[in-house]
Amino acid sequence: MVCLGNICRSPLAHGILQSKLDPSYFYVDSAGTASYHIGEQPDKRSIRIAQLNGIDIRPQSARQFLRSDLDTFDYIYAMDESNYSDILKLATKEEHRSKVKLFLDENENAKVKNVPDPYYGDLTDFELVFKLANETCDIIANKLIAQTFR
Ligand code: 4NP
Repeated sequence: MVCLGNICRSPLAHGILQSKLDPSYFYVDSAGTASYHIGEQPDKRSIRIAQLNGIDIRPQSARQFLRSDLDTFDYIYAMDESNYSDILKLATKEEHRSKVKLFLDENENAKVKNVPDPYYGDLTDFELVFKLANETCDIIANKLIAQTFR
């Protein structure tokens, strides 16, 4: 799960998807395309909204997306089109490019293409991020489970 800072949106998507998958089979992580917040805990508002929904994202620590993540992970979900194009700039082969998805493209019910950046917003903006991420992670988790255990 990749956003810009790895403190607001992708930590929520990371915690939510992780909560829907068995850790014996699936490894979930998140990162930011920018370096501003490396080593920081998720934003207090992301922590709060996750906690209200029974998910603890406090152990997460922000890191920057690495070129090697394109080898390490099977799927890479970008929170918005800007993150998507920044990730693709690091891709050197078709195998990399084909792993990179726009997160909300997985959710045909979503009315927007980009998960809105809530950084300069208030808790309501974080609630919307949670709702979008939760709906979309349900779809992604079901797909991953179906293709892994078919
Ligand atoms: P995120 O939100 O990409 O969802 O983690 C942001 C966090 C920090 C900044 C921008 C967006 N920033 O400009 O520092």
